[in-house]
Amino acid sequence: MADHQDLLARRYRVMGHHSPLFYDKPLQLVRGEGVWLWDAEGKRYLDVYNNVPHVGHCNPRVVEALSRQASTLNIHTRYLHNNIVDYLERLTGTFNPGLEMAMLTCTGSEANELALRMARFCTGGQGIIVTDFAYHGNTEAVAEIGTGFMPEARTTRRVKSFPIPDSYRPLDGLAGEALADAYADRVQQAIDEFHAEGIKVAGILVCPDFANEGLLNVPTGFLEKAVAKVRQAGGVFIADEVQAGFGRSGKHFWAHQWYDVTPDIVTLGKPMGNGHPLAGVVARPDMIEAFSKEAMYFNTFGGTPVSCAVGMAVLDALEEDNLMQNAITTGAYVTEGLRKLQQKHELIGDVRDLGLFFGVELVTDRHSRAPAKVMARRVINLMRDQGVLISTIGVHDAILKLRPPMPFQIEHADILLHTLDTVLTQVAVKEVV
Ligand SMILES: Cc1ncc(COP(=O)(O)O)c(C=O)c1O
Repeated sequence: MADHQDLLARRYRVMGHHSPLFYDKPLQLVRGEGVWLWDAEGKRYLDVYNNVPHVGHCNPRVVEALSRQASTLNIHTRYLHNNIVDYLERLTGTFNPGLEMAMLTCTGSEANELALRMARFCTGGQGIIVTDFAYHGNTEAVAEIGTGFMPEARTTRRVKSFPIPDSYRPLDGLAGEALADAYADRVQQAIDEFHAEGIKVAGILVCPDFANEGLLNVPTGFLEKAVAKVRQAGGVFIADEVQAGFGRSGKHFWAHQWYDVTPDIVTLGKPMGNGHPLAGVVARPDMIEAFSKEAMYFNTFGGTPVSCAVGMAVLDALEEDNLMQNAITTGAYVTEGLRKLQQKHELIGDVRDLGLFFGVELVTDRHSRAPAKVMARRVINLMRDQGVLISTIGVHDAILKLRPPMPFQIEHADILLHTLDTVLTQVAVKEVV
């Protein structure tokens, strides 16, 4: 424990006090395997939060592919190498027709930055439309579209937002098609405002799961209508799959495939390298060709033979371990369990799910739907104390975010559900006292 406190003090000294750390008592992790993590004192935690170790912490197939290629050759992409071509052929094969070309980067932020450059270059516009609680990364241009988190988003003229398309807290109390239309009208309003200011629209950029916004239940038809309006104004549709992609939703490989509209550009990252820095852009070939003809794009560490060997091993593991089917089966089991907990615990206002991704919205009052922010924080800290790692998301930080590595099984779901039941009971008792 003394070592832990010392490490924390040294971290504050060398990294400052505002570099984010999870939990009231920060966790010092030293080892991972599958869906399990161990801290410095040997305590084991069930990981129900991390999507980056997509096919499991330290997946042996991925580790083996990485070390085999690292001990053979690692070099940038200005030489011919099979790995990048093999990998991108396989990766682009998971997309709808029309999205057949790719460029690799190291982070999701770089991928979104590149997507913004490409959209602006190809459309001749500057205006980007996002939700009013967006996070898409940390570079300067991407900070401008980070309406939920970034100071740059408050001053830029190049970005406009529309209200998060939330069926649980709907605009003007509407429902169904009227709600979808109302949100799409707000996208049109953003377009009109750009035009009134003499700014041409370059595109709309959203995460198809609206994950950081709270894993929303999007009103049916909204996204298709919004994209049609943007395209009519000359803009393109950029789907940020950095968090949502790679089969997490079970039925489809990409979250945008749940909708009846194909993006012009898709950005990828996080789970792509299972923790190795691998990210990228998949887009319409005509856009990639036009952009890269004029703007030479080279990324020293993006798409090296090691990165591509890792990316290929992630795809192998997803396929051979049947992890998308697992997301459907285990995902349905978790959802059913969460809905049972909702019947028992007043604190749970809403349960939302997409394969192995769950949002559990906590409210102090089911009628007013007032967000239970303090309780949510208490819940995640108590869960951590009891060996289950989760976090929170959403505008009010009152939505429990459950997004485990894909090898998460029924036996793990039982531990999660039992621990959550115990913690929600504890929190409720504490509130009465
Ligand atoms: C939806 C989304 N896009 C982009 C990013 C940025 O990715 P990275 O941290 O790899 O730059 C994130 C990171 O949290 C994200 O959630």
